[in-house]
Amino acid sequence: MKRTIVITGGAGFIGSHVVRLFVNKYPDYSIINLDKLTYAGNLANLKDVENKPNYSFVKMDICDFDAFYKLMCEKHVDGIIHLAAESHVDRSIKDPFTFAKTNVLGTLSLLQAAKLYWESLPEKYEGKLFYHISTDEVYGALEMTNPEGIEPPFSTTASSSEHHLAYGKDFFYETTKYTPHSPYSASKASSDHFVRAFHDTYGLPTIVTNCSNNYGPYQFPEKLIPLFINNIKQRKPLPVYGKGENVRDWLFVEDHARAIDLIFHKGNVAETYNIGGFNEWKNIDIIKVVINTVDRLLGRKEGEDLDLITFVTDRLGHDARYAIDSTKLQKELGWEPSLQFEEGIEKTVRWYLENEEWLNNVVSGDYEKYYDSMYKNR
Ligand code: NAD
Ligand code: DAU
Repeated sequence: MKRTIVITGGAGFIGSHVVRLFVNKYPDYSIINLDKLTYAGNLANLKDVENKPNYSFVKMDICDFDAFYKLMCEKHVDGIIHLAAESHVDRSIKDPFTFAKTNVLGTLSLLQAAKLYWESLPEKYEGKLFYHISTDEVYGALEMTNPEGIEPPFSTTASSSEHHLAYGKDFFYETTKYTPHSPYSASKASSDHFVRAFHDTYGLPTIVTNCSNNYGPYQFPEKLIPLFINNIKQRKPLPVYGKGENVRDWLFVEDHARAIDLIFHKGNVAETYNIGGFNEWKNIDIIKVVINTVDRLLGRKEGEDLDLITFVTDRLGHDARYAIDSTKLQKELGWEPSLQFEEGIEKTVRWYLENEEWLNNVVSGDYEKYYDSMYKNR
């Protein structure tokens, strides 16, 4: 079946993996990557697919209602996978307005344009889908069962299954009450509510998914794992917030992209699905794994760079623990993560070390010239 799908935020970290998967897997689909190219958008993430006939790029701000409505009509868009967002919690603490504008008003603008265009068609909402990608952070934070003096029941190289249930028996479920704490998560929560409101009020076919922390190639090096890989490589200090005791639930980005593909095609309209790998790690433990892996791959003595760890002032409102229960997705649609964490982290560190040019261009800001050289005069 031919389809025309807009993927917003396709030049970002997760979006670029979703675009790559769809372009390669569905040659009959027309995949439109719509991105404003903020500091987080990098078209070099998609060099391997940019010349494929079923791929196109449109530089656009999701807040530009008129431009998006026009695009929907001209291209006969029947599916939207919405990833464009401001995504970094630390930036949201410094500049909450930008997060409200892009994440809330931008999402509302897309919803309204989709509604108007699809309602104008004879078949209306038949065969259409607005799929909104959200985060587990909307659920707030979970308690650590034993926050003081935890003695992990595993080594830092323990398998993912040993990390499951390591820090508490409670999880985020699809039914968990929204309790966002940061301006970022508050803006994502608000956008989730707008998406559901458009379904409940107008019947717009929507799906929302809430995913845990992603890691893997092409992540902007302001986020923990790529930032630390780059710093270890250059022997720069590693700023660990607080005591490094916070827990995050890590998923390899390609597994998230596979889940998005599955849910886009087989998910039930109006549903919410949680996506996560049952793979909880305390920050300090994951940091040690990253240090050991970088050291080993660079031919240094493993653990040689542990003294780069520098405890710094904690993030304001720092959520203690995130842990996703993705049983619904696993049982109803048969998804499961394909990679063990050890494999995923090895693959990730190797990628950043082997893709020095990509990393250097991002750190120096040169990546922002890629659009001018490749697209501006097309
Ligand atoms: P990212 O910051 O790497 O990429 C965001 C992309 O959105 C960039 O390409 C940027 O240019 C684009 N963008 C930003 N503002 C825009 C605007 N106004 N108009 C058009 N494009 C705009 O983000 P990411 O980590 O890939 O996250 C993608 C989505 O997944 C976000 O919605 C995020 O909330 C969600 N999410 C992320 C994670 C994670 O661990 N990274 C986990 C769960 C959910
Ligand atoms: O849970 C999903 C979320 O994961 C996504 O919705 C967000 O878009 C994504 O950025 C991520 O949010 P986090 O705040 O968890 O990710 P970050 O990489 O910024 O931080 C991971 C943990 O590491 C967190 O507890 C803060 C800590 N940290 C982070 C940085 C950047 C440090 O200790 N030092 C650092 O320098």
